[in-house]
Amino acid sequence: MLKKIECIIQPFKLEDVKEALRKIAVDGMTVTEVKGCGKQRGYTQKYSPEAPIRLLPKVKMEIVTDEEKVEEIVQTIQSLARTNQIGAGKIFIIPVEDVMRVRTKERGRIAID
Ligand SMILES: Nc1ncnc2c1ncn2[C@@H]1O[C@H](COP(=O)(O)OP(=O)(O)OP(=O)(O)O)[C@@H](O)[C@H]1O
Ligand SMILES: [Mg+2]
Repeated sequence: MLKKIECIIQPFKLEDVKEALRKIAVDGMTVTEVKGCGKQRGYTQKYSPEAPIRLLPKVKMEIVTDEEKVEEIVQTIQSLARTNQIGAGKIFIIPVEDVMRVRTKERGRIAID
């Protein structure tokens, strides 16, 4: 089974996370600059329910991998992206139906190796 690990992290953590993923032989990834908020709606202190949502700059990283590697990758991302502050991020693990390598038409696991 293929899975997509989609994580939202603090932009200043990107270099550390990327370097750690290189060390555990993660090859393919897609990184996007995004904006988002979690349960604090972008505020670091108490907000009122009427306060507008604040969208803060974040980095989204997407990695499609075999399910056997998911736990190692997720633990690596968590340990490097962690801060003791709110807003350190989220990691989503999503099933992937199939993959095709455009150059060769290979499908499935072989298309990401
Ligand atoms: N339910 C969600 N759906 C989609 N994206 C989310 C969701 N929750 C968080 N995110 C994304 O993750 C980013 C980081 O979220 P954040 O770390 O603030 O989560 P949290 O649940 O509020 O945890 P914490 O209490 O540590 O702040 C957000 O800016 C947003 O981009
Ligand atoms: Mg939050």
